[in-house]
Amino acid sequence: MDKVYKDSQTHYIIAIDGPAASGKSTTARFLAEEMKYVYIDTGAMYRACGLLSKQLGISLNDIPAIGKMLETIEIEIVYSVNGNRIMLNRIDVTEAIREKDISRLASDISQIGIVRDKMVDLQRAMGKDGGVVMDGRDIGTVVFPQADFKFFMIADVDTRAERRVAELKAKGIEADFEEVKKDLIWRDKNDSTRALAPLRKADDAIEIDTTGLTIEEQVNKIREIIKNKSYA
Ligand code: DC
Repeated sequence: MDKVYKDSQTHYIIAIDGPAASGKSTTARFLAEEMKYVYIDTGAMYRACGLLSKQLGISLNDIPAIGKMLETIEIEIVYSVNGNRIMLNRIDVTEAIREKDISRLASDISQIGIVRDKMVDLQRAMGKDGGVVMDGRDIGTVVFPQADFKFFMIADVDTRAERRVAELKAKGIEADFEEVKKDLIWRDKNDSTRALAPLRKADDAIEIDTTGLTIEEQVNKIREIIKNKSYA
């Protein structure tokens, strides 16, 4: 590869935020791989919290029980060339956190202050030395407001629903377009209207509309922006 970035010398923090299925994670993963950076999927961490609350039968209204759950929770991202694995209390939950009901549960549990505080602390610890591409909803606004690069990815809802259906199909799961779309709309509203760290574009984030773009084109756009600033 030609010297696109000052790769091995750079330790940027790259934040990619945006609504569900806007292309964040695919782009972040590709970019991290190219730059030999670590990819941190913060949505997976909230999903792991949601999954654990379900396994333990904890109601999201029971804040003391959630607090107790958080005292011992261990979430680890194990980096692997074939895609990161998400470990919850040392058990691989990479597939389990993608179950349909976990999406809504993650969105709901992420509204709780003590959950956010704990996840944000973990995310800051994971990213403090830089060399990371982190995707989520509040990375550029709350977790790393001083990030070197902030991107906010958007795409129209039909495109996002189509992508999600195709993604599920690739995993052998049949999904109904209208149902997927309804779910995305619900989640966007839930995530962007909450009181704490709502989904919002940071004032200094660069918006990338991925409607009609291929993955390659999305990554190219971001790569160009990083490259131009790196050499400026
Ligand atoms: O990125 P995702 O769809 O896997 O995220 C699942 C949920 O987690 C999302 O609906 C809201 C929450 N989340 C959050 O509140 N803050 C983040 N940084 C990432 C995700």
